[in-house]
Amino acid sequence: MTRTVYLNGEYLPETEAKVSIFDRAFLMGDGVYEVVSVLDGKLLDFDGHMARLQRSLDALAMKNPLDTAGYLAAQRELVARNDIGDGLIYLQVSRGNPGDRDFVFPPAEVQPTLVMFTQSKPGLADSPTAKTGLRVISVQDLRWHRRDIKTVQLLYPSLAKMEAKAAGVDDAWLVEDGKVTEGTSNNAYIVKDGKIITRELSHDILHGITRAAVLRFAHEAQMSVEERSFTIQEAQQADEAFITSASGFVTPVVEIDGVKLGAGTPGPVAVRLREIYLEESRKAAV
Ligand code: PDD
Repeated sequence: MTRTVYLNGEYLPETEAKVSIFDRAFLMGDGVYEVVSVLDGKLLDFDGHMARLQRSLDALAMKNPLDTAGYLAAQRELVARNDIGDGLIYLQVSRGNPGDRDFVFPPAEVQPTLVMFTQSKPGLADSPTAKTGLRVISVQDLRWHRRDIKTVQLLYPSLAKMEAKAAGVDDAWLVEDGKVTEGTSNNAYIVKDGKIITRELSHDILHGITRAAVLRFAHEAQMSVEERSFTIQEAQQADEAFITSASGFVTPVVEIDGVKLGAGTPGPVAVRLREIYLEESRKAAV
């Protein structure tokens, strides 16, 4: 089946969806994106992702080409047309095509480019890594300093991920000034004596939508949460660790820079939070 994608208001076969070589995302990395997960054909944390999209657009003075109802209708249409049970929807807004290359932003009449496509991932909620846990290495965080804006400038996270793969592990945790910021494409957590520790929100990290939901569920379940940064050494001495993201939900981390955490198997807090997150998010899915 040929995938149907969305481009500027049109549903097209993926082979027919074309964007200009002058598009600002292509030449300048001048675009923002969101990834929304789909379970049983329904969208998870949709409102949170829309709120963050608006925040990213506002931070870059970029126009939003669609309203929330428009995004919801389009994403549901893509899910239906591509027969997605479990999977992801990628959404990208760029500053559009000024017709040439220029560092100066294009005039107001240049319309943003809006692209959306689905990725089918059958069994997304039952991924093997949820049971085995992830192994990570630490890598210096060399990204720019507005990581709270979800831009398509993903070269450094991609390089860090490749470094992890070359080291024979799953992912990298990024470290700046001796403290973990986040994973290449996820937020990072440790658990010590029952307390969940994760870096506080600032320009240093992406304000994860899954993070917000998981911390809310943790509070509701009377789990103790501390929002502060931590070192790799502290993480290696923790009882357990995990990451959160729209595509991985809550996934345990069992090894950091070759040091196994606890028994080297997924810890009870991560396992429980994953269950709660999936249960509650499925209930609230739209
Ligand atoms: N990545 N931190 C970074 C750097 C990320 O790229 C992501 C998401 C997160 C988690 O955010 P959320 O819970 O809202 O997905 C944290 C997405 C999934 C991606 O790039 O594919």
